[in-house]
Amino acid sequence: MDVIPLDDPTDVQIGQWHAVLQAVHAADPAGEPAPVRAQTAEHLLGARDQRLWTAAEGAETVAVAALRLPGGPGADRPGEIDIRVRPSHRRRGLGTRLMAVAAEGLRADGRTSVIAQVLARTPAVPFLESHGFVCVLTLSGLLLRLADLPPDRVPALVAAGPPGYRLARWRGSVPDEYADALAHAKHAMADLAEYEGLPWNAGRVREMAEMVAKRGDDLYTVAAVQGSTVAGFTEIVVPVEASERAAQYDTAVVPEHRGRRLGIWVKAAMLEWLAAERPEVREIETDNVGDNAHMLAVNEELGFRRQRESREYQAATRDLPTVSRGT
Ligand SMILES: CC(C)(COP(=O)(O)OP(=O)(O)OC[C@H]1O[C@@H](n2cnc3c(N)ncnc32)[C@H](O)[C@@H]1OP(=O)(O)O)[C@@H](O)C(=O)NCCC(=O)NCCS
Repeated sequence: MDVIPLDDPTDVQIGQWHAVLQAVHAADPAGEPAPVRAQTAEHLLGARDQRLWTAAEGAETVAVAALRLPGGPGADRPGEIDIRVRPSHRRRGLGTRLMAVAAEGLRADGRTSVIAQVLARTPAVPFLESHGFVCVLTLSGLLLRLADLPPDRVPALVAAGPPGYRLARWRGSVPDEYADALAHAKHAMADLAEYEGLPWNAGRVREMAEMVAKRGDDLYTVAAVQGSTVAGFTEIVVPVEASERAAQYDTAVVPEHRGRRLGIWVKAAMLEWLAAERPEVREIETDNVGDNAHMLAVNEELGFRRQRESREYQAATRDLPTVSRGT
């Protein structure tokens, strides 16, 4: 079994990678749409801050691994690992070999920890736990089918915005006038910032928008503004390929402004904007942190329904397996 790094994937290699994703999806669909080849190509070619490996048996690619190293070389942030093994080739140590190879990549870049997001109740859970990963977050995956929304719900919610606030919206990177205020509002997502271990600032807000743009995807933001303060905001990404299913990114309301239905207001305004701007979007998917009862309630009131549960795992690089030479 050869494990080879993939520096500049060719069309054939992208096809082989995609075939592994399809085989994995067929075995465990969990309500996810089937992978789209153009999206696979975009992920493999688009992101510069990642390393890729494949494992082959003869001519067949049987497993793949992607390690994202966000923030550029040596950044003080966890790496992000994603390993996929064909169902026909599991429990033979392949996942572990790829984990060891990725761990070398982490060590070489000076990253002290790594995270992985996986579906609950799948083999990924015992696999990661066997390698010393611990669960740091439980996420409920929700889906909103826009066709199921009663026609008057969104206009009524938008009209019910609290007094003293106005809506602002932009596509792509944040306009300069809101950059610091948006970074401040991102601190409101303390749960996520904590384990990422990084404060938000205008630079990091722009870096996130650039990452989305580099993939060719569209980022939409709606904010509730009071004076020069961003009191709350919500972000949606429409993927360039498979644009029928948009993804909810961050939503937060600054603590001093909570309890005024700003969260549901910005989300409803986003739905109204998207319907006009991107009528091809049919569904929106989102993940809610397991203990965030308030955001779950907002999403359920909007019409989101629970689909699946996923978990965020984290491990220290020093606890990961090492590559055994000569095998
Ligand atoms: C998770 C996954 C990568 C594991 O790949 P794998 O090649 O089967 O893993 P390994 O053979 O190296 O397993 C190592 C250990 O993990 C644990 N493990 C793996 N799969 C398991 C399962 N289905 N049930 C119980 N334990 C399991 C075992 O302790 C195993 O050691 P053992 O076989 O000696 O008992 C594979 O199941 C997969 O591709 N799943 C779908 C994609 C995914 O969720 N990836 C995780 C993202 S990081």
